[in-house]
Amino acid sequence: MLESARPKENVTASLLLTGPAGFIASHLAERLLADGHTVLGVDCFTDYYPRPVKERNLAGALAHPAFTFVEGDLRTMDVRPLVEQAECIVHLAAMGGLLQSWTAFEAYQGCNILATQRLLEAMRQVGGGRRIVHISTSSVYGRESSGGEARVPAPDSPYGVTKLAAEHLVQAYHRNFDVPMTILRYFSIYGPRQRPDMGYHIFIDRVLRGEGITVFGDGRQTRGNTFVGDCVDATVKAVEHGPTGDVFNIGGGETISAIGAIELIEALTGRRASIVHAPARPGEQSHALADTSKARATFGWVPRVGIRDGMAAQVAWQIAELERTASGGA
Ligand SMILES: NC(=O)c1ccc[n+]([C@@H]2O[C@H](COP(=O)([O-])OP(=O)(O)OC[C@H]3O[C@@H](n4cnc5c(N)ncnc54)[C@H](O)[C@@H]3O)[C@@H](O)[C@H]2O)c1
Repeated sequence: MLESARPKENVTASLLLTGPAGFIASHLAERLLADGHTVLGVDCFTDYYPRPVKERNLAGALAHPAFTFVEGDLRTMDVRPLVEQAECIVHLAAMGGLLQSWTAFEAYQGCNILATQRLLEAMRQVGGGRRIVHISTSSVYGRESSGGEARVPAPDSPYGVTKLAAEHLVQAYHRNFDVPMTILRYFSIYGPRQRPDMGYHIFIDRVLRGEGITVFGDGRQTRGNTFVGDCVDATVKAVEHGPTGDVFNIGGGETISAIGAIELIEALTGRRASIVHAPARPGEQSHALADTSKARATFGWVPRVGIRDGMAAQVAWQIAELERTASGGA
């Protein structure tokens, strides 16, 4: 399902990819390597979710001869030697998810703001035209995030606040020190390896185990979900395009409500979900559909995977994971 391209000649680069043991960057690493890039990955295996899950995410990239992995924490390690080796820094490492950000702010501040500043400062010092593709989020917009990039950011969670601060740092280094950059704001990514704290992962897991699903709010909140392969494709195109000095929304073209997603999971698994309603959680978006016309025009990118096919891929992956753990796999 994930797009993988033939190696291309003359357009390959040395890339520093942060967070490659994570959900999205593990797919991105595999795609960049398949495209012929040389990738240096750095990740510290934060305890946001279990290390064995991240080690499995990383396994595909680790098996590739053009991938080098460094275990290290961007908040404290010397990042300069890593930056020196790269033409382009593709920065995905972060504390994701907004719920924990209310109670673990220091980790969000460190991983999302300080780590970004340390990379940018190393880029400024090393120079040489090194560029950054910085990954941000629709959460910088706040409760209502539909529309284009001109929407005024009003983040409604500490997570969104730290991600917006990181964007501002990238912009400040760009304006003051000519650090070449592109910022991508991802909208709700799903698909195989989705983080275990994310909505669809939880819904599918509960349906497969025959456990109840708690739907926060009325379940009519909608998301323009983005299949991970489409988000990876957009990121690769942004890397290969070269720096734009600009910000782009990256999102799928189809919206679905929480209730609609559960009905789709029921259809795909042939099982009934038992739903309990609970009050809406603080900071959660009510509607999010990206206007992606700027990314489409600039990068020649379009999201290709619809919610039915994308959800089927995630369901198949979660079934395989459950079977693996049931048969004694780590
Ligand atoms: N998943 C989504 O729907 C979504 C939506 C919008 C934006 N994003 C952004 O995409 C990026 C990747 O998200 P994900 O869902 O794959 O998250 P993830 O938690 O699966 O991956 C993040 C990785 O970064 C690593 N990391 C975090 N802090 C680090 C540090 N200080 N030093 C080294 N490594 C560190 C973690 O160990 C992890 O492996 C993040 O920047 C996130 O804000 C994700």
